[in-house]
Amino acid sequence: MMGPYKAVRVTEDVWWVGAIDWNIRDFHGYTTRRGSTYNAYLVMADKITLIDTVKAPFLEEMIARIASVVEPAKIDYIVSNHSEMDHSGCLPEIIAAVKPEKVFASAVGTRTLRELFPLDRELVPVRDGETLSLGNRTLTFMETRMLHWPDSMFAYLNEEQLLFSQDAFGMHLASLERFDDELDPAVLAYEAATYYANILLPYSPLVLKLLEKVAAAGLSFRLIAPDHGPIWRKDMAGIVERYRKWAAQKPTAKAVVFYATMWHSTEKMARAISEGLAAGGLHVKLLSMDKAHRSDVAYEILDAGAIAVGSPTLNNHLLPNMADILTYLRGLKPRNLVGAAFGSYGWSGEAVKEIEEILASMKIEPAGEGISVKNVPDGGVLLRCYELGLKMAEMVGARL
Ligand code: FEO
Repeated sequence: MMGPYKAVRVTEDVWWVGAIDWNIRDFHGYTTRRGSTYNAYLVMADKITLIDTVKAPFLEEMIARIASVVEPAKIDYIVSNHSEMDHSGCLPEIIAAVKPEKVFASAVGTRTLRELFPLDRELVPVRDGETLSLGNRTLTFMETRMLHWPDSMFAYLNEEQLLFSQDAFGMHLASLERFDDELDPAVLAYEAATYYANILLPYSPLVLKLLEKVAAAGLSFRLIAPDHGPIWRKDMAGIVERYRKWAAQKPTAKAVVFYATMWHSTEKMARAISEGLAAGGLHVKLLSMDKAHRSDVAYEILDAGAIAVGSPTLNNHLLPNMADILTYLRGLKPRNLVGAAFGSYGWSGEAVKEIEEILASMKIEPAGEGISVKNVPDGGVLLRCYELGLKMAEMVGARL
């Protein structure tokens, strides 16, 4: 009896055979409020080829979708574009079930997969620019090292001008719609930006190089099929252009103020700085880390020109949620930012210094000495906060 899980036709010969994870809410620290999909693709060429797989618990869903098109045992080749377990997690089981003739990955990918799983198959390494004949169709591979793992690569289906882009151009969005033109553009814009900010931002210089390489190769796309979220069949140019803009990390007239507070003193300072930033002409996002998630801060910083970071001092250090967000942001390596630190304290007051050291390690240009106040800020301190906001706005303005 046929089950409910069907493949979705992408082109004449290509089918989506992935899985929908409606309930995932955490991707190594990135909150995924709309769930995600793990996209796998079946190319019904002379050599039937599966491109990537899905996270281990979704094996049956993927096999059912494949079976709605072809008997899974008929798969000849498997290509692993990215070894991370949300795409390779059921590789051992699918290899055992299908017994493919060959399994392909980048050279680094073949080593990584062997380190991750016991695999009962020879893994064939493919080089950057190498082509693989599927009989009546051809795949061309392009290494995309550190986007976002060392093993990552693209596979381009020449005849269909279809790019299998693994994580790149993806987003965490669970839906039964499979294509960009079936979904709300505002949701796509938000989720694509959040995904870039939380996953790809540290590798922005490599993204720019890759986009140059793709342009130099003269590749054109009729479809971009990532490993998460919808397939781009309408706005390919738009998503590529947005990647170019995000990767350039050019600041805009925007500041992000984020803080934690114990008894509202640091919050008062945050609000005064925000008023100064706005008076200086910047759009301001003010985020309390008691309410916002680290992924929200990453999203807001993607196009910002300045950050102001506030924390009270607790037992000689930052509040724990501020240490959390700053550790996360340090890894994301945002560039071209002006920064400042602020916070109140009861008796020792190390937090502001600690924030300043972290901002310096992130190569964020200080807008001046941080503002640290004992207990509750008075009108004079709040005026200094306002003026710090004005100064930051002026510095950002000079960079635009
Ligand atoms: Fe979607 Fe890097 O795995």
